[in-house]
Amino acid sequence: MSKRTLIRGANCVLPNGIQQVDLLIEDDKILGVDPPVTAAVDETVDASGLHLLPGIIDDQVHFRDPGLEHKEDLHTGSLACAKGGVTTFLEMPNTNPTTTTNEALENKLERASQKSVVNYGFYIGATGENVDVLQQVTRTPGIKIFIGSSTGPLLVDEQEALERIFAETTLPICAHCEDEATVRANSERLGGGKNIHDHSKIRNHAAALIATKRAVDLSTRHKHPFHVLHVSTAQEVEFLRDRPSWVTAEACPHHLFFNIDDYDRLGSKVQMNPSIKTAEDNLALWKGLRDGIIEVVATDHAPHTLEEKDQPYPKSPSGLPAVENSLALMLDAAHRGECTLEQIVSWMCSAPARIWNIANKGAIQEGFDADLVLVDLKQKATIRDEEQLTKSGWSPWHGVELTGWAVRTWVMGQTVFQDGKVDGTHRGREAKYNRR
Ligand code: DOR
Repeated sequence: MSKRTLIRGANCVLPNGIQQVDLLIEDDKILGVDPPVTAAVDETVDASGLHLLPGIIDDQVHFRDPGLEHKEDLHTGSLACAKGGVTTFLEMPNTNPTTTTNEALENKLERASQKSVVNYGFYIGATGENVDVLQQVTRTPGIKIFIGSSTGPLLVDEQEALERIFAETTLPICAHCEDEATVRANSERLGGGKNIHDHSKIRNHAAALIATKRAVDLSTRHKHPFHVLHVSTAQEVEFLRDRPSWVTAEACPHHLFFNIDDYDRLGSKVQMNPSIKTAEDNLALWKGLRDGIIEVVATDHAPHTLEEKDQPYPKSPSGLPAVENSLALMLDAAHRGECTLEQIVSWMCSAPARIWNIANKGAIQEGFDADLVLVDLKQKATIRDEEQLTKSGWSPWHGVELTGWAVRTWVMGQTVFQDGKVDGTHRGREAKYNRR
């Protein structure tokens, strides 16, 4: 017996604009946008006064499973997603073991099928030696290269190895762009770093720009689809204005909302790679988004325990949790007039679906998956460490009041978050990819 749900009266963010229309879901699919009023349904949801968005696709998270599950695991990470309106996540390969073989990839997919409340996909990580693996795997959105090292052992910065990856593979590539040689030289000059402020001097503007230029050069010459993860500087935004059409870029909430003036207040809680930069960089990233130079907003959700973060710099690890608050942070930005709801849907839903060729997601459209998030643009709530679902149990935005929150999330037609509670029993599905 199939189940039909009617979401009635919401302002739906559709591909052609915001319209107040009903939406009919049948099982895991959107059956009708503005269906005939006579349609028979099993459940009617009164959504008047609320806005309905496609579920958020976060194309950059670190859920630490397997190997680092004391920080997060696929279940807790996915609970945080459901609460935050994130219905699909794409997860990074710097777990233990790293996701650099087909076996490791299949193992993660299997774990996710047992643990994840929302839909999922996993990148395959590049090493200098696994081009054959990168050529063969299919159950992945694409290849992740750490052109600069971050958490974990993954690093490919030799030119010959990078040329081979861009020349001999076909999956889309994304990269962490911070120039290793620049970072090492800066670190040496600063004696390894004495306090948290040194983090942005070690991982400085030049390190980001050099590596982004290098990766875009590879992508340009090899005509290989390429996505610049977590752009952090005004200079990268300027450089990306002249990129080829197959290069895309991304910004993260911490680079939009934090800068070096926040170190005194938040210390290593805002220690990230790439590092947070200046207030001018915040503004340039916003402008890059509005100008269409940066297409995607994703979190780089990278949890560590507070105990780990509390170690003195440079022992403190880089990374912060964000997946359950990213949509609210952006809705609050819209409330303050920084952007529109349509832009948020473009940056967090349709663009990631397009860039990673994710089938049937990223838009409210007939025949697409019923991955949806209902938001209340007027709801005010304050982020509290003690209410976070991430296993790490904290947020760098603790104490911040935001206007605009997810009130209900559907994954493949099933309600996974409602009335402030996540249904942890639901299981999401593996994302499917359109391949030529
Ligand atoms: O700060 C970061 N932490 N940046 C990354 O790219 C990786 C992440 C992590 O996995 O901890």
